[in-house]
Amino acid sequence: MNRENIIVLDFGGQYSHLITRRIRDLSVYAELLPYDTSADKIASMNPSGIILTGGPNSVYDENSPKPDSKIFDLGIPILGICYGLQIIVDKMGGSITRTDKREYGKAMLSISSEQKLFQGLESNTDVWMSHGDATKILPDNFESIANTENSPYAAIRSNNLFGVQFHPEVTHTKDGRKILSNFIYEICGCKGLWTMDSFVDNTIDKIKTQVGNDSVLCALSGGVDSSTVALLLHKAIGDRLTCVFVDHGLLRKDEAKNVLEIFDKLDIKIIFYNEEDRFLDLLLNVIDPEERRKLIGQEFIKVFEEISKQNGSFKWLAQGTLYPDVIESASTNGPAVTIKTHHNVGGLPENIDFKLIEPFRDLYKDEVRNVARLIELPSEILERHPFPGPGLAVRIIGKFTPEKLTICRESSSIVEEELKKSNLHNTVWQAFAMVGDDKAVGVLGDGRKMGYIVTVRIVESTDAMTADWVKIPYDVLDNISTRITNEVDNVSWVTYAISSKPPSTIEPQ
Ligand code: XMP
Repeated sequence: MNRENIIVLDFGGQYSHLITRRIRDLSVYAELLPYDTSADKIASMNPSGIILTGGPNSVYDENSPKPDSKIFDLGIPILGICYGLQIIVDKMGGSITRTDKREYGKAMLSISSEQKLFQGLESNTDVWMSHGDATKILPDNFESIANTENSPYAAIRSNNLFGVQFHPEVTHTKDGRKILSNFIYEICGCKGLWTMDSFVDNTIDKIKTQVGNDSVLCALSGGVDSSTVALLLHKAIGDRLTCVFVDHGLLRKDEAKNVLEIFDKLDIKIIFYNEEDRFLDLLLNVIDPEERRKLIGQEFIKVFEEISKQNGSFKWLAQGTLYPDVIESASTNGPAVTIKTHHNVGGLPENIDFKLIEPFRDLYKDEVRNVARLIELPSEILERHPFPGPGLAVRIIGKFTPEKLTICRESSSIVEEELKKSNLHNTVWQAFAMVGDDKAVGVLGDGRKMGYIVTVRIVESTDAMTADWVKIPYDVLDNISTRITNEVDNVSWVTYAISSKPPSTIEPQ
């Protein structure tokens, strides 16, 4: 595959993924790698450019993360963003200090030098700053190419080394997209080869070569990711694909029935296993969500190994692992922290009998949706909200019990139904209900009774990396609340979660 590539070195900034996403939105493949990836490895990947991300450290601290200094000898254009700029200054002999003119938030950038990086921009433009350290002395051969009121060195350059103290990747930087586009196209000379059309064609070819005449088992969850994997594999290898759909008892209401009907229509072979009891026994009373994820992940693999033995020789197991799962599950030193162990990666034992096919390992969620649209995944699946692999298990806080599972499932179904009725379902990213151990008094009939508190969470997002709670109209929230307390046994109160990500996450645990 002709993979034009921008390497993004992750220094632990909260926007590292966002930079990668933005570059890909500009039709150039970008890959997020740990900050200490060796220059040899980077050179072997033949990137068109390198971006150094922001990060929480100070370059003058002894243990602050630094890149392999040989990356500066590769002759590849480099753009340092925030902490990334400070690394360049520090490495090239300038100096960085704590400034008494810290900048957080909007600032007006004045461009002082005509540069390809700023091509097509007005000479004054809004940018987003977030730094406490700043350049005090510019290294030899560097020039300041833009400034703000408090930062004389808001953007700097020497040959093909560029640094910006502000964040072009956030939408508050008005011309941020244009600046990144100028870097990758005008400075790095990229052509824009990363499109989902080319991804689909290349991936189908790759699967054909990889699999040869073997048969593939696809772990289907009924969600967009694994269904798209299945449809793509079906296009690549036809009948040699068998999908296995295991009901682990943690699915949404009527989910198994719906998935079976849809795949039947697509003419894709599917074997259904109801393993509800097996999983629920395993999870009973387990409190720790990470432990639940691991138990579910390990049990899944066991189930698949059994199924594989029963159904002939499958060498390959296909699944819908995504790029953030891979990155978030990879514990590096500091940057790219493990936030949650996503079961499809974190739970895999060392020696599994299968070879894995994960065609979407490099993709973000919204890129998968674009693939799904291109290969015409039925809208019933495409319009589904993302759903975690360990299912409702991550939405039950405290001890896992069958009663809380029923409450969670029934309440979530009401949330989704009411959103569909008011035509809001397709406008939000995820909508569900969760339950913990907190109880509150309710009046049921003539008696006062302690019932569970159910919390409704409805968020908007483009890639689940950040999310906002949705300002749902009160009457819709009212219908949801009334129906949940009326229709779901033992629930007395309904609350609405009004936290964004960050600092919260989408799922409660
Ligand atoms: P968080 O809660 O981390 O979720 O903000 C981001 C997205 O990932 C989904 N999610 C999971 N998906 N296994 C999965 O396959 C998991 O363990 C898991 N935890 C969260 C979540 O629904 C959201 O779309």
